[in-house]
Amino acid sequence: MITLNIVAEEKDPTQQVESAQAAFDDEFRRFDNLAFVIAVDGAENGLSALKELRTRHLGKKSAIAASKKLIGRVPAEERAAFGQLVQRTEVAITESIASAESQLKEIIEKTRIQRETIDVTIPGRRPRQGHLHPITLMRQRIEDIFVSLGYAVEDDREIETDFYNFDALNIPEGHPARDPQDTFYTTEGFALRSQTSTVQIHAMQRRGAPVRMIAPGRVFRRDTPDPTHNPMFYQVEGLCVDRGITMAHLKGTLAEFVHRLFGPETRTRFRPSYFPFTEPSAEVDYSCFNCAGDGCRICKWSGWIELGGSGMVHPNVLRGANVDTSEFTGFAFGLGIDRTCARIYQLDDIRLLFENDVRFLEQFR
Ligand code: FA5
Repeated sequence: MITLNIVAEEKDPTQQVESAQAAFDDEFRRFDNLAFVIAVDGAENGLSALKELRTRHLGKKSAIAASKKLIGRVPAEERAAFGQLVQRTEVAITESIASAESQLKEIIEKTRIQRETIDVTIPGRRPRQGHLHPITLMRQRIEDIFVSLGYAVEDDREIETDFYNFDALNIPEGHPARDPQDTFYTTEGFALRSQTSTVQIHAMQRRGAPVRMIAPGRVFRRDTPDPTHNPMFYQVEGLCVDRGITMAHLKGTLAEFVHRLFGPETRTRFRPSYFPFTEPSAEVDYSCFNCAGDGCRICKWSGWIELGGSGMVHPNVLRGANVDTSEFTGFAFGLGIDRTCARIYQLDDIRLLFENDVRFLEQFR
């Protein structure tokens, strides 16, 4: 045991050096696994941790620096041995840190090179360009026609109250017309709209009369999917309310619409029908764009294709939306976008429009 010749009760200097080494070993242990240090701290933080370690264990205030100061104070016969111990310890700590530091730098460099390496022999990846869905293409064609006829395009809510989906459209509770329009309801009593006719009410309440608008959008019904039905499909509603509007305006407008969509030779046909919110009401057909009415596979050999429902807005609906029925009349129509789209693109099944099969959709590039 080396004792100091000045203050006998001071700690054994050899022990001080040994505990300095032990304290260093304790902290340095985590640098045995450098990959782990990089993963947890990041490479840069690993390097600065090593720098701090060096300052702590070899710097001016370190235990090693304190031990060096003791060399002159140990008895002469033990001084050389103690001096060598201090030096060995200092060198061991210095080398451990330097080795960890260079290994860490090597790993960082290797990772950087790996990351930046470009294999010029790999074929390039061409970005796949998206395109519009056929329903969107169809909707845009319809919108363009009506905008050019002076109609505004309204976008409205898909979740409705019972009032807008039924009552305001002259379909009170218990009315049999609610059945074919049965829809999905939220637990709070809201309904997913079963027709875009709901927008007629919102538009009249918002804009008052006169008003001329179309409202394309999604609607929902409790319909079992089949080649002509989906529980979710698209409609476009049309509404024109002004002074002196008659059924002739309705017929003229829809005739112009099909001329622009399918060609000037296209004919329209109005069949009497019933909708609670229009009176009189009519189903609208157009002559087949493929066979001009002779009969073919597309029109199912009838020469005619159904466009949708239409009629003169019922006075109850106008009154409910605060439109003065002594001054204003109006017509409305509702077209099914999915079925029209299916006819135009000669699809046998409208479910194709909803299934998101890229092999099908890619054909509409
Ligand atoms: C209506 O929905 C009325 N709101 C249309 C209307 C508006 C009449 C304004 C008068 C005034 P209808 O239930 O017939 O009508 O539906 C209109 C169109 O939606 C149909 O011609 C059809 O093309 C489409 N359609 C109806 N049910 C489905 C379904 N389950 N899947 C796909 N398309 C459908």
